[in-house]
Amino acid sequence: MLELSHLYKSYDGKYNAVEDLSFSLEKGEFLVLLGLSGSGKSTLLRCINRLIEPSSGDIRFEGESIIGLKGAELRQYRRNLAMIFQQFNLVKNLTVLSNVLSGRLGYHHIASPFTAEEKELAMLNLKRVGLEDFAQRRVKQLSGGQQQRVAIARALMQEPKIVLADEPVASLDPATADSIMQYLAEINRSGIAVICSLHFLSLARRYGSRVLALKDGKKAFEGLPEEIDAARFKEIYGEDAREI
Ligand SMILES: Nc1ncnc2c1ncn2[C@@H]1O[C@H](COP(=O)(O)OP(=O)(O)OP(=O)(O)O)[C@@H](O)[C@H]1O
Ligand SMILES: [Mg+2]
Repeated sequence: MLELSHLYKSYDGKYNAVEDLSFSLEKGEFLVLLGLSGSGKSTLLRCINRLIEPSSGDIRFEGESIIGLKGAELRQYRRNLAMIFQQFNLVKNLTVLSNVLSGRLGYHHIASPFTAEEKELAMLNLKRVGLEDFAQRRVKQLSGGQQQRVAIARALMQEPKIVLADEPVASLDPATADSIMQYLAEINRSGIAVICSLHFLSLARRYGSRVLALKDGKKAFEGLPEEIDAARFKEIYGEDAREI
């Protein structure tokens, strides 16, 4: 579905934030990205949806290179990929429903009004994340976990093929984090591939079907979560690191 080959990203032309990275994502996978702060996880996710331009290498989506796509073609490609962020990136003063509907903007060429079908879909997606009674509330009145559920509903409005989640639970307490991961797992079961960066190995083990770990922008490990033993953990996080 998605294939990266020899991807490089340098912000300054000297240091590689992502270096010679190759991997592929198959349909239905839940790929967890691990790695220390600064290892290149966000850079990689942003290269995939071309929020930042890779310096070299190729990214293929369903067999076609997406490097060099512009304008309408780039917009069309991006519909396939929905982003979920640590800080939710919602418009706090607007209602939950308006935020969810905004996930549909990639389908509106000009500022045309949302259709009745889109509003119905928004309510359906809010129901999927257990927030159907919150549609008319302003986002700022919601807890962090509820806000992330709004962001998930917004992502679903895109009818994406892949969800890119950049530390979606890093701002949440452990129990809320786990419930957000359950929503992502359910989305994954419905046929949407997920690439999700995480800080906790325990969550990677519970939810990942495969793990890709980065160290200084390079691949440090690729395999099954259960293959990450104490030795691999130190390869990924450094000799002095201890699991918490
Ligand atoms: N916009 C930018 N301009 C210059 N350098 C950047 C930029 N964004 C990231 N970097 C650098 O690229 C490297 C990788 O950063 P990135 O944000 O991708 O790491 P990360 O794995 O997402 O870290 P974290 O876990 O803290 O979110 C770091 O050295 C960082 O300083
Ligand atoms: Mg990051």
